[in-house]
Amino acid sequence: MKKNMRIVARKNIDESYNVSYCENYTEELISDLKRNYWGNKYAIITDSQVKKLYADELVKKLKKAGIKVDVISFPKGEKNKTFQSAEKLILQLSKLNFQRKDCIIGIGGGVVGDIAGFVASIYMRGIPFIQIPTTLLAMIDSSVGGKTGVDTEIGKNLIGTFHRPKKVYINPEFLKSLTKKQLENGFSELIKYGIIAKPKILNLLEKYKEQILSFEPKIIQDLIMTAVDIKASIVMQDEFEDGLRKTLNYGHTIGHAIEKVSDFTVQHGEAVGLGIRIINSIALNKKWFKEKDANRITALLDSYGLPNKLPKNINIEKIIDAMKSDKKAEGEIIIYVVPKKIGKVILTNKISKPDIRKACKKHM
Ligand SMILES: NC(=O)c1ccc[n+]([C@@H]2O[C@H](COP(=O)([O-])OP(=O)(O)OC[C@H]3O[C@@H](n4cnc5c(N)ncnc54)[C@H](O)[C@@H]3O)[C@@H](O)[C@H]2O)c1
Ligand SMILES: [Zn+2]
Repeated sequence: MKKNMRIVARKNIDESYNVSYCENYTEELISDLKRNYWGNKYAIITDSQVKKLYADELVKKLKKAGIKVDVISFPKGEKNKTFQSAEKLILQLSKLNFQRKDCIIGIGGGVVGDIAGFVASIYMRGIPFIQIPTTLLAMIDSSVGGKTGVDTEIGKNLIGTFHRPKKVYINPEFLKSLTKKQLENGFSELIKYGIIAKPKILNLLEKYKEQILSFEPKIIQDLIMTAVDIKASIVMQDEFEDGLRKTLNYGHTIGHAIEKVSDFTVQHGEAVGLGIRIINSIALNKKWFKEKDANRITALLDSYGLPNKLPKNINIEKIIDAMKSDKKAEGEIIIYVVPKKIGKVILTNKISKPDIRKACKKHM
């Protein structure tokens, strides 16, 4: 009788996908759904706000085109990116009799993308999934790269999967209904991309602010697709975050801590902007980064309305403590992404608590 057996389980599958910038996304989606067999039927997952704004309309159009579709939603907001919401969505999918051969379409911001992708990855051990990002942040960041997840008591985004979408549809028209604050979330990530990888983004942001804020089509397309290109190129080289993908965390190590200590009154984009300012001033102090480059970034953050001061009475020691529990910290050692010059960052653990204290005080 055999005592030991080897189960061979090598994976060799192509899960490449397209990110398509389309002014008329419903036409392209309908034509794709008719041509590609991504599902027998489709479940649109969205939040309460995007449902009213766009998803109900999308359902009508898909039904009119003869596509079998249902819509399920959860209340908007980061606080609902939870297991409980995922479970409710799963129960609704089951009631609607969704099977392995069916497909989920996530339409919304990063919260919807993360939760819809997570549900798609675990429902019946994984079903296909399509992303339709509707915030600037979701278009340039969260919809590309295959990370899904929910927030739990142990931390933000600590529970999740990698589940690649079949396709990502970017429709710039959605940007027009975003509030200034929601747009700012995207701007700090765009500035981040400019520093870690492609100064071209900074040039666009500097030169065409007016056109960007009035959604001029050509400039918006250039901005978004340059950003998607950067994110795609990073995740293609390092999907599982062994090295290069960590650079996306620029401004985020301190930023996440600020978000948490402020009890999320400082929103993500604002916190990342502050995280960028603080890490830059540390790099500047240590003479790793040139004053001219640091000033350029400060001017850009100011120009796009990102705050330059931490909230009054925020406790700096709590910010330092919160960094240790960030999922990106490796044990007690915190790895920081630090700028060397515009377009180049390095990873280092050579930043001390007094360095952070001093830089935070400068931003009080
Ligand atoms: N998976 C990843 O790689 C990745 C990367 C970055 C961020 N994220 C996640 O993304 C989330 C943040 O995403 P977000 O900033 O898009 O937040 P969000 O999804 O909560 O959207 C913000 C708000 O805008 C509303 N909204 C969405 N589109 C709209 C539109 N076109 N017009 C008007 N209102 C609209 C939403 O209903 C919501 O109330 C976080 O949970 C973060 O963890 C994931
Ligand atoms: Zn971010």
